[in-house]
Amino acid sequence: MGRGAFRIDHDLAAYEICPLLAFLNMQIPSTFFGELSSAEFLAEYWQKKPLLVRGAWPGFESPLTPEAFLALSSRTDAFSRLMVRLDGNHKWDVREGPFSKAVFEKMPDSQWTLLIQEVDRLVPEVREMLQVVSFLPNWRLDDIMISYAANGGGVGAHTDNYDVFLLQGYGRRRWQINTVPVVEENLIEGIDVSILADFEPDCDWVLETGDMLYLPPKIAHHGVALGPCMTFSIGCRAPGALEFVTGLLDNVLSEMDPEERYSDPHLKPGSHPGLMGDQVIEWAKSLIQSVIDDKAALTNLVGKILSEPRREAEDGPYAHLSFEDVFASGKTLKPYAASQVIYVRNPDATITLFAAGEMISLDASSLPALQALISVAGLKNGDFDLDPDFLELLEGLWEQGTLIFQ
Ligand code: SIN
Ligand code: CO
Repeated sequence: MGRGAFRIDHDLAAYEICPLLAFLNMQIPSTFFGELSSAEFLAEYWQKKPLLVRGAWPGFESPLTPEAFLALSSRTDAFSRLMVRLDGNHKWDVREGPFSKAVFEKMPDSQWTLLIQEVDRLVPEVREMLQVVSFLPNWRLDDIMISYAANGGGVGAHTDNYDVFLLQGYGRRRWQINTVPVVEENLIEGIDVSILADFEPDCDWVLETGDMLYLPPKIAHHGVALGPCMTFSIGCRAPGALEFVTGLLDNVLSEMDPEERYSDPHLKPGSHPGLMGDQVIEWAKSLIQSVIDDKAALTNLVGKILSEPRREAEDGPYAHLSFEDVFASGKTLKPYAASQVIYVRNPDATITLFAAGEMISLDASSLPALQALISVAGLKNGDFDLDPDFLELLEGLWEQGTLIFQ
C-alpha cells in the first residue's frame, strides 16, 4: 500500500505537534456572492438554481490544516466517516470514526475521503464562518461539514435534500453538476453509498480555494479532488413535513386530556342507523382546529421542535470550572449549535426563547443581550447589565451544554 502522495503533502510527523488550529486571519466577506447582494441571491438563486461564484471568499485560508483536520477525526465527539474507493466499479469501503493516526498512515495515495460533520460545533473558527450566511435564519442552518480528499477522492455523484454552499477550502476540486433537479433517483444497487446510476453533467468546473458553488436541493453533483483538497459544505436544514407533523402531534398528544371523549347529549333520531352524520366529523375537525387556531401555542410548539438538539450535548472545555469564574475571566458565551437557540417576539413585546427544545419566557429588556449571545460576536461579561435571573438562565443553559464558552 503506497502512501507517497500523502506523505509528501502532509507530514504525519507533524500530526501530534501541530496546533489543532492553523492561524486564521478570518476576514468574513460582506457577501458570499461576488457582485450579487444576499438579497439578489435569495431572489434569483436560493432554492431555484445553482450558482458558481469565483473568489466568493477572497483569500480564504482554512482554519484547519489538513493534518489538524485528520487529527480532529480522532475525537469521539466528531462525526467522521472515511470513504475509500476500492476499484472502478463503485466499490467503497465506508467506515465510521473515530480514526487514529495509524489509519491515515495506511491510506493509499488517492481515492479516499474523510468527512466530518458539524465541525462548526467543534472548532470555534469554523463556527465563525457561519457569519457568511447570516442573511439566513439560524434555524434554517444545519452544520458545516468538512471533507479532506486525497487525489481523485470524492463521494460519487449524488443529490442532497438540502441547499448547500460548497466552499473550496484548500486545493482544487472538479465539480460536475446537472442543473435539472432529479425527481426520481436511480441509484446504483448493492453498494454502501447512494450514487446516481445515470448522472449526466451539463456543467463542469474546477474550483480553486475561495470559490463557492451553491446548490439547491436535488441537484445532482459529483466532486473529484484534483490533488489533496478540502471542501467546506455549509449545509441548510429543511424539516421534512411528515417528521414535523409527527413532532407537532406528539407534543399535542402529550398535552391532551386522556379523559376527554366524544359526547352528544343533544342527539336526534337519524334517518338510517348506518349513516355516520356530520357531528362526529365536526368534532374531529374541532380537535385539530383547536391546535391550529391557537397561534401562541403553535408558535411554542414550532420553536420547541426546531430548537431540539439532534444529539446529546457533551461537556465543554470549561466544564470543570464554575460558570461565574469563566464568565468573569472574559470568555465569550455562544450557542453550541446555531439552530438550537432561537426566539420569537410576542405581540405583548415579551420574548420567548427556545433553547434546545426548552421554552423560556423573557422580559423585553433581555433582548439586546440575547441577540448578542446568538450573534457571531457572542456575549461577554460587562457587555450588558445582566439581571440575576438572566444570568442564572445562562448558567443553566451552559451547564446543559446548550451554550458554550469560547
Ligand atoms: C464532499 O465534500 O466530498 C461532498 C460534499 C457534498 O457533495 O455535499
Ligand atoms: Co452533496
